[in-house]
Amino acid sequence: MANDILRVEGVRKGFGGLLAVDNCSLSVREGTIVGLIGPNGAGKSTLFDLISGFARPDAGSIVFSGMEMAGLPAFRIARLGLIRTFQIPRALMRMTVLENMMLGSQNQIGETIFAPIFRRSRVRADEKAIEKKAEDILKFFDLLRMKDEYAGSMSGGQKKMLEMARALMADPRLLLLDEPFAGVNPALSERLIEKIKLLRKNGLTIMIIEHAIPYVLSLSDELYVLNKGAVLASGRPDQVISDSRVFEAYLGVGSDAQP
Ligand SMILES: Nc1ncnc2c1ncn2[C@@H]1O[C@H](COP(=O)(O)OP(=O)(O)O)[C@@H](O)[C@H]1O
Ligand SMILES: [Mg+2]
Repeated sequence: MANDILRVEGVRKGFGGLLAVDNCSLSVREGTIVGLIGPNGAGKSTLFDLISGFARPDAGSIVFSGMEMAGLPAFRIARLGLIRTFQIPRALMRMTVLENMMLGSQNQIGETIFAPIFRRSRVRADEKAIEKKAEDILKFFDLLRMKDEYAGSMSGGQKKMLEMARALMADPRLLLLDEPFAGVNPALSERLIEKIKLLRKNGLTIMIIEHAIPYVLSLSDELYVLNKGAVLASGRPDQVISDSRVFEAYLGVGSDAQP
């Protein structure tokens, strides 16, 4: 479809003898939130690795915004606006929250060692702008008061929020969230859900891996179930959840077994 921001077709990835992702196809419409669920080891995180360029697919096509991504390195995919977060937050613990945010920005002229002297004032102005943007995003996540704390001093839930906040520094058009609520307490999760809905309202397209079904139902416009590396079911979240094949995949029982 014309307004698919992402189209994955026939993607495969093996590790030795194991097919982690096996002939997987899915599409994501611009401006929506697409949920991705499935039992442990189903290949969800590996699929995110493939889409974001952190792993290279053995076969298949990954078209983002009309361009083929398969085989491109992660930094180039990120520059095009496809950004992911990790299941385990990757914040640098001995840097401050603000410093972590600044690292998430992709367009820091100041980082090049070839920046000529006469551009110094310009570099400083850019850094100011990036800092302002970092503070705005931290404020959005209610983290601004922690900007000068070490990331290592944050709670597990706050680290997950920082991971998401940092991803936003790169101006994503498509954001892949890998289990953003894992280890986050219910009250904070509820707040995070509202933030994610606001991001969608502002035009961001989001793909989200999540185990907690109520969160998935509350957020997703469309839902995919991955099982043994392949799409087992997809469609409207409430319908997908009530599909007996999905139930069986989670229980790991055969299709003839009684639930
Ligand atoms: N780098 C890797 N090397 C070898 N096996 C891997 C690697 N990454 C993932 N796997 C295996 O691929 C399968 C899918 O893993 P993963 O994508 O992490 O699943 P999920 O995120 O759905 O729990 C698992 O069996 C896992 O052990
Ligand atoms: Mg995973």
